[in-house]
Amino acid sequence: MIDVLENEKTFHLKTEHTSFILHIIESGHPVCLYWGRKVSGNGFSYIVKELKKASYLAWTDGRKDLRLEQYPLLYPVYGYPDLRNPAVHIRYENGSRITDLRYKGYRISKGKQKIPGLPAVTDPEADVLELILEDNVRHIECTLVFGVFGEYDAFTQSVILHNNGRNALTIEKIMSSCFSFLEDDLECVTLTGAWARECHLSRERLRQGTFRIDSRRGAGGHGQNPFLGLARPDCSQNNGGIYGMNLVYSGSFEASAEVDMHQNTRVMMGIQSFDFAWQLSPGESFYTPEAVLVYSDSGMNGMSHIFHRLYRERLMKNGWGSRPRPVVINNWEATYFDFDRDKLLALAKEAAEIGVEMFVLDDGWFGCRNSENESLGDWTENYEKLGGTLSGLADELERLGLKFGIWMEPEMVSPDSDLFREHPDWIIASPEYTPQLARNQYVLDLSKKCVRDYIVKAVSDILKNGKISYIKWDMNRNITDAFSQGGAAEHQQELHHRYILGLYDILEQLTGQFPDVLFEGCAGGGGRYDPGMLYYMPQIWASDDTDAIERLAIQQGTSLIYPAVSMSCHVSAVPNHQVGRTTSLKTRGITAMQGMLGYELDLTKCTDEEKQALAEQIAEYKSLRDLIGQGRMYRLETTGYAYAWMFVSEDKREAYISYVQVLTQPNTVPKRLRLVGLEEEGLYCLAGTDQIRTGSQWVHCGVGLPGGAADFCGRTWRLYIK
Ligand code: DGJ
Repeated sequence: MIDVLENEKTFHLKTEHTSFILHIIESGHPVCLYWGRKVSGNGFSYIVKELKKASYLAWTDGRKDLRLEQYPLLYPVYGYPDLRNPAVHIRYENGSRITDLRYKGYRISKGKQKIPGLPAVTDPEADVLELILEDNVRHIECTLVFGVFGEYDAFTQSVILHNNGRNALTIEKIMSSCFSFLEDDLECVTLTGAWARECHLSRERLRQGTFRIDSRRGAGGHGQNPFLGLARPDCSQNNGGIYGMNLVYSGSFEASAEVDMHQNTRVMMGIQSFDFAWQLSPGESFYTPEAVLVYSDSGMNGMSHIFHRLYRERLMKNGWGSRPRPVVINNWEATYFDFDRDKLLALAKEAAEIGVEMFVLDDGWFGCRNSENESLGDWTENYEKLGGTLSGLADELERLGLKFGIWMEPEMVSPDSDLFREHPDWIIASPEYTPQLARNQYVLDLSKKCVRDYIVKAVSDILKNGKISYIKWDMNRNITDAFSQGGAAEHQQELHHRYILGLYDILEQLTGQFPDVLFEGCAGGGGRYDPGMLYYMPQIWASDDTDAIERLAIQQGTSLIYPAVSMSCHVSAVPNHQVGRTTSLKTRGITAMQGMLGYELDLTKCTDEEKQALAEQIAEYKSLRDLIGQGRMYRLETTGYAYAWMFVSEDKREAYISYVQVLTQPNTVPKRLRLVGLEEEGLYCLAGTDQIRTGSQWVHCGVGLPGGAADFCGRTWRLYIK
């Protein structure tokens, strides 16, 4: 809902539990009066009218009492008398970089749509506010678009810049979202890491100066997720206030929180501005991706619930947010490149017997691919290695009761491939230098239509006979040598963004043509785990690290924003291939059941006992699949070095709790694990026992943890109301 106070030029954006209040000050500059728990009443402009003046700041329009630099500006542009970090920076034909955006008007409409060329959260019930700003010297219009998702407690913000002038201009920076707080008592929460240890949660106090996360890699990358949280110091998993911003974008990005001289905080997020310059000709518009903005005063779990539900119901395309995901066996860690038809079928047969539903054939089935050195781009079946066609293999798998999925890496090409020999100019590379390799491959230039057409055809040719119902879409290197061969000089700094627009164009076509194919995103694990990819690829391989203990921190961080239904988690062999650690099958299963369960190990090498245990694990998982995929996920507070998760059904009649202790300590008495999210008066039975206790008992008195156990041990509980 959006309340407009015309006389005060105030816009109160309301969701079920939160308020976002915007206001236009006398000079025509928009400010953010308030964002947080829902407030009632009218006339909030006193918040800025009561600002006490600081010294040594520029005036505005000759007015000594109007020092913009102190105001909680909503979308500051370079050229204002505000010398903090601007949200937009434009260069004009005469070299000037001064812009003056002021309020022109507003529009309100019903129904939040997709953004042209970009994925977005959509909802026919959402309200949309467009605040129109203009510079009437340069004749540019800048529209701030706010989506208000009432029942989801979320907002979105994006920007459209339109050039109504007579000359082309260059956008050098354009953020999707920018707002300010008149305080700095906040801590930055981010998801950071590296390959094989993605999305570790980090938290640090804001200080005067700028806190910044970003990526210049052409993807979010393994190091920084496009998420920035700002938590109150007392924010815990279940209590306290936290703001979350997440960019619906899969390319290079930046996000920052700047604390100024007067302890005010300006926050912004958008496309990476380093090496970005977009030519905007007269009559053209530029659309930024959108940022999702969430506030919760129920701690980090409260924030996660908002993101999870919004993404499942309003982001994931083709209804995939609520579609059950198959239990897969993926042959990668079982065989790597070394397989033939017999090996694959032997693995598939064992998998079918223990209850697996989908066989995923990973890297190595095409061209002459027997290592990471060749054939990317040549998406033709290797009949010899496959012992026939993919379609023939699909028939045999079907006879075993398995669906079929395959791995592809369509954005890449190997130097040793027919595609590269035919089209050396299709890669991103500068003519003056030898292009750099990573994993012995180059990145295809998706800004070129001929390249996109090639990829769409290659993938659709494989999918069109309907035998393949799952694609694991990998992307194993980042962009270097950022130059589009044959492209005009003045458009070269558009390449990073055009690459992502090209990728979205490809995915829009493929997911439109094949709505029932499950696309699983992967970028050497979680190197591109963001809402932009989730729009098209509702499941993402969270990490190449399959160790059950390393995965705990990775999944814990990932779950801050992304729902369990999106998180692909596999049980693999021990000693683990990435870290050499040995954990029990039970613990590996418990960790993998925090998301969408699958397997990577060579089942033909398992003992009968292990196969029996695996079959039981899968049966248990199938009975929990809906609860894990669609329930509310809570990260529980634990003492010691341990992780615990809880899934509660929407009607609160059912709950599943899992706990993994990392290192055991001698001579300690384990503490009880307190639960959350249950109906306090409900009578819950503990499955497999005759214990019946009230929800409030389980929540406040907790469950007893196992004692004296070994390192890496796990335990689960199921509760239900009869
Ligand atoms: C990287 C992925 O993350 C792995 O799971 C596997 O698919 C390999 N690529 C295959 O090359």
